[in-house]
Amino acid sequence: MYFQQFYLTCLAHASYMLGSEGVACVVDPQRDVNLYLEEAEARGLKIQHIIETHLHADFVSGHVELAARTGAKIYLGAATPSPIPHAAVHDGDEVQLGRVKLRFLETPGHTVESISIVVTDLDRGDKPWAVLTGDTLFIGDVGRPDLSGDKTPQELAAMLYDSLHQKLLPLGDDVEVYPAHGAGSLCGKQMRPEKQSTIGKEKELNYAVRAASKEEFVRLLTAEMPERPTYFAQDAELNRIGAIPLEFLLPMEALTPEQVLEGQRAGAAVLDTRPAMQFGSGHVPGAINIPLGGQFAGSAGTLVKLDSDIIIVAEEQAAVEESRMRLARVGFESVGGYLDGGMLRWAEENRPAAQIMQISAGELSRSLAEEPGSIQIVDVRRKPEWDQGHIPGALHKPLDKAAGMLGDLDRTKPIVVHCKGGYRSAIACSLIQRAGFENVTNLIGGLDAWQSLGSPVEATNSAAKS
Ligand SMILES: [Fe+2]
Repeated sequence: MYFQQFYLTCLAHASYMLGSEGVACVVDPQRDVNLYLEEAEARGLKIQHIIETHLHADFVSGHVELAARTGAKIYLGAATPSPIPHAAVHDGDEVQLGRVKLRFLETPGHTVESISIVVTDLDRGDKPWAVLTGDTLFIGDVGRPDLSGDKTPQELAAMLYDSLHQKLLPLGDDVEVYPAHGAGSLCGKQMRPEKQSTIGKEKELNYAVRAASKEEFVRLLTAEMPERPTYFAQDAELNRIGAIPLEFLLPMEALTPEQVLEGQRAGAAVLDTRPAMQFGSGHVPGAINIPLGGQFAGSAGTLVKLDSDIIIVAEEQAAVEESRMRLARVGFESVGGYLDGGMLRWAEENRPAAQIMQISAGELSRSLAEEPGSIQIVDVRRKPEWDQGHIPGALHKPLDKAAGMLGDLDRTKPIVVHCKGGYRSAIACSLIQRAGFENVTNLIGGLDAWQSLGSPVEATNSAAKS
């Protein structure tokens, strides 16, 4: 049997190709599908089956384009209300490719239509070898149960408990587990960094699987759920009806600085994907900074409206193309242009540029000691991170609740923004500056740098610790 995991770090997304005797199956494909076509050709496989474990909410799937380009059949869980031509699979249905048998399990919980795929490699024996769990069971976690329009998180969590205990755990401790997401995904909250596991390991290490009762499981899953990004519902709908092929997207135009400003005045978002330091040293006023070197696509989907017209500013042409592709993977289809020649061209034309100042943890500590209360420290991490420990006197403005971020900030006082390591704070600095705040500074290295100096942090509801 041929088996390959394709891991897309930007979205913490795993898709899979399985093959045997010249036939292949792709599970949960990403939007740009050339990698599967190239791999199948290199392996002498013909893609005949495409399976979606559920209607993904955090990325746009390539199932429809891949089917159009290969003639393969699409399989969806029977509870999927999709108008695209597909086979609706029920519990126990099977597909055989060569010496590999795939058996479907209906495993609702993360979503109502979620399925898992039990893989038996007949060359290894007649017992299941692995299970592709989609977003039902992750490594260290399970899928979030709050993405349904008509079921409560509690109802979905209860279904997820039954799916785990009645369908997945009985498969056996040795069965390997391959989920659709890894650590950092917005579909769960505390995944481990490994890319594969076993049922036995998850029984031992996964907090949700270890829950003592169904009630406890529901309570754990529905406590402190991460914010539901606004683009999730739109992506799930795009996947339900099938996204257009990438080649049909708008071509990008090379724009002069004047055209960038015109576009911006007409409502386009200028999205600068360079590293925070470069952005800080000079950028198009009003630009949003979401650097490519992090969880770029999910951050963009969370903070920028999917139907926005977007103009990209990047370091070089390859980064322009990369930015556009990563945006398309989460459903941005109106990336109309990019600043031709980047910020160098901007500078050559003597266009005014905005800056974000940077401060080291040591400098911040000294400034606070000299003039206590002179700086507003804005911590943009999530609530569980904040609760574990934060800089005394800081304001908590989590980036995933950006809309409410700016309400009570004082425009007359300097603002220093931080997160854990500097990625989210770079984004937040640009958003705060864009909203008209003039004195915005990024804490280099975030709370990690602050703590490495031994500077004080305090936990919520407890005394300060260092
Ligand atoms: Fe999902």
